[in-house]
Amino acid sequence: MSFHTIIEPFRIKSVESIKFTDRPEREAALRAAGYNVFRLRAEDVLIDLLTDSGTGAMSAAQWSALMLGDESYAGSRSFYRFERVVQELTGFRHVIPTHQGRAAERILFHTMLKAGDCVPNNNHFDTTRANIEVEGAEALDLVIPEGRVPALLHPFKGNVDLGALERLLEERGDHVPLVMATVTNNSGGGQPVSLGNLRAVADLAHRFGKPFFLDACRFAENAYFIKKRDPGQEQRTPREIAHEMFRLADGCTFSAKKDGLANIGGFLAMNDDGWAERCRNLLILTEGFPTYGGLAGYDLEAIAQGLEEVLEEPYLRYRLRSTEYLGEKLAAAGVPIIQPPGGHAIYIDARALLPHVPPLQYPGIALVNALYTEAGVRSVEIGTVMFGLRPDGSETAAAMDLVRLAIPRRVYTQSHIDYVAESVLAVARDVENLRGYRIVSAARTLRHFTARFEPLAADPAVDAPPRRD
Ligand SMILES: Cc1ncc(COP(=O)(O)O)c(C=O)c1O
Repeated sequence: MSFHTIIEPFRIKSVESIKFTDRPEREAALRAAGYNVFRLRAEDVLIDLLTDSGTGAMSAAQWSALMLGDESYAGSRSFYRFERVVQELTGFRHVIPTHQGRAAERILFHTMLKAGDCVPNNNHFDTTRANIEVEGAEALDLVIPEGRVPALLHPFKGNVDLGALERLLEERGDHVPLVMATVTNNSGGGQPVSLGNLRAVADLAHRFGKPFFLDACRFAENAYFIKKRDPGQEQRTPREIAHEMFRLADGCTFSAKKDGLANIGGFLAMNDDGWAERCRNLLILTEGFPTYGGLAGYDLEAIAQGLEEVLEEPYLRYRLRSTEYLGEKLAAAGVPIIQPPGGHAIYIDARALLPHVPPLQYPGIALVNALYTEAGVRSVEIGTVMFGLRPDGSETAAAMDLVRLAIPRRVYTQSHIDYVAESVLAVARDVENLRGYRIVSAARTLRHFTARFEPLAADPAVDAPPRRD
C-alpha cells in the first residue's frame, strides 16, 4: 500500500522547551536589539527560522559518535575517518577540515585570487562574496534569467547561464582563476542546479583551463532534486548522483552545518597538490593543524556520521517535502514566494508583498520584524540590507528583496510548520500598515549581522485621517 502522508523519518528521544512570550515582550526585545533579529536573544524566539545552518538536530548515532572523538593534536583517528568519508563521497584527494564554510572560502580565495580577478558563480552567498571582495576581486552572479524571476516555475532555477559564462571566459578569461557553482543556490532561493548544467559548466571551465569548484553546502538536497526532476536520473540513488556532481569538479568548499547534519564544521577539498599545500599552510596559520583544522575530534566524528545519514532517501524525501508543504500553504493563500519551493527554505518576495515600501527602506526587514512581533517567528532578510552595499560605500537595491524562512534539519514538526504558515498569513493580511526602516549604524562588510535600524515614521500624506468636509 502506498501512503500519501510523508512523515518525519525519526522519532523524538530528547526535547528542548521553547519559550512563549507576549507581544509587548517581543516589541521590547526587538527595540533593544536595534530592530535587527540577529541581535535578539535566541530564547526570546519561539520558532527560529533564521537559518538552517548549524541548527539541525543530530541523530543518536551522531551523539554516540562524539564519544569516539580522538582529541590528539596531530594524526587523530577521527580525522582519518572524516577524511575517508569525504574522499569516498567527493573523490577529492586533499581534504582540509575547517571550523565552518567561510573559513574554507577564505583559505581558498586568499590562496587563488589577486586584486582585479573575477569569480563567476550562479549566485554567490554573502560570505563567499565578502571573502572574494576582501581580496580586491569581483564576485559575479551568472544565474540563468529564470532564476531572477521569483514567481516563475522552472525545475532548475539555480542553473548557471552558460552563454554568459562563455562570454566572460572569452573576454576576461585571464582574470578568472576559478569557476564556481553553488548547490543548491541559497541566495537565489535554495534552487537546484541540474546535472546537465553542472556537466556543461565543468566542460566550459576545463575548455578554458580553469578549475571548477562547487560550493557544496547543500549537495544532498541538490542531488535529490536532480533525482526527482532531471529526466533519466530517477532510478539513481542520491548518493550516486552526489558522486557524479563532485566528480565533475576539481574541488569544493563545504559548510558541514548544512548537509553535514552537524552543528559546526566544514572543509575545503581539491585534487591539485600545489594548491592544497598552499591552502594547508594558510590553515595552520589561522585554523589549526591539518588533521583538525579548528575542530574538535568529536566534531569530525559527528560530521563523518552526518555525511552518511544525509543521503538516506527517506530523510531527503521528508526534508524537501516539509519545505514544499510550507510553500504550498503560503502560495495557496496568495503570499508571493519564490517558486518552486527550494530545498531548505521558503523565500517570501517581500518587494511584491510590500509594494509601498521602496527597496532602500528595506521591505524585507519590515516583514521580518513584523513576523517576530506578531508570532515570535524569526526569519531573515535576503535583500538590500544583505547585498545592497557596494564596495565603494554606495547603496543600491538588491536584485530581489526576499525574506527567508529557513527550516532547521530534523527539528520542527508539522504542527510547528502549520503555526509558521498561520503567522505569515496573519502578517500578510495587515501588510499595508507595515512601514520601512532606516539604518542607524552598520559595518562596511556583512552589515546585516550587526546593523541597527529605526522604523520610519508613518508618511503623513498617506496616513492623514480622512477629511470630514
Ligand atoms: C551557499 C553557502 N555558502 C557558504 C556558506 C557559509 O557557511 P558557514 O556559515 O558555515 O560559514 C553558507 C552558509 O549559510 C551558504 O549557504
